[in-house]
Amino acid sequence: MANELKDMRESYEKGSLTKDTMHPQPLEQFTQWLEEAKSNNILEANAFILSTASIDGVPSSRTVLLKEIDEGLVFYTNYKSDKAKNLMANPKASFLFLWKEMERQVRISGRIEMVSREQSEAYFQVRPRKSQLGAWASNQSSVINSRKVLEDQMEALLTNYPEGTAIPTPPHWGGFRLVADTFEFWQGRKSRLHDRIKYQKIEDDWVLSRLSP
Ligand SMILES: Cc1cc2nc3c(=O)[nH]c(=O)nc-3n(C[C@H](O)[C@H](O)[C@H](O)COP(=O)(O)O)c2cc1C
Repeated sequence: MANELKDMRESYEKGSLTKDTMHPQPLEQFTQWLEEAKSNNILEANAFILSTASIDGVPSSRTVLLKEIDEGLVFYTNYKSDKAKNLMANPKASFLFLWKEMERQVRISGRIEMVSREQSEAYFQVRPRKSQLGAWASNQSSVINSRKVLEDQMEALLTNYPEGTAIPTPPHWGGFRLVADTFEFWQGRKSRLHDRIKYQKIEDDWVLSRLSP
C-alpha cells in the first residue's frame, strides 16, 4: 500500500499562466475559471474547502458550496454550526477550489461578513422544499442519538408545512460572504514547475506576483 502511494503521480500539462494574460480583477478571473470548470462538466465545480480557525487558533476545514458571487463569495449554512461559531469569533477564512481535472487550484482568503437577512431569505426561498425543511430539521454540528431523530423531525415538518404552504427561513440559517484580500491561481505544469499567480490587495489596488511552485 505504502509503495502504491509513493508511485502515484501525474504530469500536469493542460495549461499555463502569465501575469499579462490574467484579468486585472481577481474576482473576474475567478468567475472565468469557474465558468470554464462548469463547461468542462466538473461535478459540483462550485464546491470548495472552507477553512476557519477558532479564536485560539485551532484550524478546521470542510466542504461547502459557493452560491453567489457579488462583491465577494457567498455560501450558506447554519449560524449555530461549528464553522459559524469559528467565523463569528474570528471572521477570517480561506476558500480552496480544486478543479483537478483541469489541473487548477484557486486559493482565496480574506475577511468574512454576514450576508443581509434579505439576501439570505431570497436564496432560501429558491431552494427545493426538502432542502428548506432539512435546514429546519438539522441542528447542524450538534450530537444526535440516532438518524431517527432527524427522520422524525422531518416527518413532523412535512405535516406542519404541507405542499403549497410557504416555509419561512430559519433564523439560525443564512449566508456568509468572503471579502477577499488575497487570491492565488495555480496551474499545474510539467516537472512540478507549476505556475502560481498571486493577487494581493494593497490599499485599493490588486498587485500581481508570480510565486515559485
Ligand atoms: C459537496 C459538499 C457540499 C456541502 N455543502 C455545504 C453547504 O453549502 N453548507 C453547509 O453548511 N454544509 C455543506 N456541506 C457539509 C459540510 O461539509 C459540513 O459537514 C457541515 O457544514 C458541518 O460543518 P461544521 O460542523 O464544521 O460547521 C457540504 C458537504 C459536501 C461534501
